Amino acid sequence: MPDGSSSHQWAKPLRIGGLELPNRLVLAPMSSVSTLSARLIAQTAGAGLVVTETLSACALVRGSERRHLQRSTVPSEDRLAVQLFGAKLETLTEACWLLSDQGVQWIDLNLGCPVPKFLRKGAGSALMRTPLEIGRIVEAMRRSFHGVLSVKMRSGWDARSRNAPEVAQIAANAGAQLITIHGRTRAQQYRGRADRQLIRRVVEAVPELPVLANGDVTEATDVLAITAETGAAGVMIGRGAIGNPWIFEGALSLAAGKPIRPPTVADRMVTLERHAELIASVARDDRERVRELRRYASAYSKGLPGGRHFRVHAMKAEDAETLVTLTRNFLADARPEAA
Ligand SMILES: Cc1cc2nc3c(=O)[nH]c(=O)nc-3n(C[C@H](O)[C@H](O)[C@H](O)COP(=O)(O)O)c2cc1C
Repeated sequence: MPDGSSSHQWAKPLRIGGLELPNRLVLAPMSSVSTLSARLIAQTAGAGLVVTETLSACALVRGSERRHLQRSTVPSEDRLAVQLFGAKLETLTEACWLLSDQGVQWIDLNLGCPVPKFLRKGAGSALMRTPLEIGRIVEAMRRSFHGVLSVKMRSGWDARSRNAPEVAQIAANAGAQLITIHGRTRAQQYRGRADRQLIRRVVEAVPELPVLANGDVTEATDVLAITAETGAAGVMIGRGAIGNPWIFEGALSLAAGKPIRPPTVADRMVTLERHAELIASVARDDRERVRELRRYASAYSKGLPGGRHFRVHAMKAEDAETLVTLTRNFLADARPEAA
């Protein structure tokens, strides 16, 4: 029986394909959130792998998403998986060739997105309804891409069809090298608790592959709990890392038997400044810059005294410079109480 907890497997390196990850803690793909700045900051905080926002295979083939990808990655960014969504085998295969040409080393196939826009096209979690089609797609992607290939799925379409263990086996037989399982069905969206028993069943269904458990890891100690309950080799963290990249550092401290060091206000300040620089380096204009920065200014003020008032005020800032200055001043004032 796999048991990830006793040996802190998730803190150990993972050799996969030609790559070596320093650990198995992964920043989840999150649209509009797992941008370049968030990915680089998560890696600095200890994430062993980061995943991009999901990219449309169709748009990649047409060319538009290709420009977006080029603009939103930097050559030094390694330990990066690019997530693809799509429903058509031919389009996904062509997208794999294109990404391969661009030097991408890891592709993750999206089998989990519950958004109607994806489902109407038969992509995301809609594919969970046709497991054999998943097998054909993964096999074709495997033939056209020589890097690491993984899939990320939900537990199933709805409560009556929680077929993730079966889908995991099919994907593994077709050539997937790693499976992430978010323990909710498409019907649940983000409601209820992620089902850890189901995650364990997926771990047991594909003993030859590393499985990442995903869902509701909001604190570093949750990494211990979810691996103990599921036997997963690693953990993917989504919402728990928004505004809290230190969750990765905290989990690694736990594995090393060290106390978790909560972020100081100074940590938040340095990190926010880094976000601002990275966002400025890729944003097309000030509107885009301020839009992305608002998200982090808001996230880093959470839990600090006066945070709510700050957010109302700061969200009105119309340019990035003003927003950075307001946040800097807020954090400087919050320092004596919260550091
Ligand atoms: C804002 C947001 C955007 C997301 N975008 C994606 C996505 O593009 N691809 C994907 O596979 N999952 C996406 N997800 C799902 C997450 O990757 C993850 O599976 C889910 O949030 C559960 O993990 P958590 O409880 O750690 O957040 C998204 C989630 C959120 C909150």
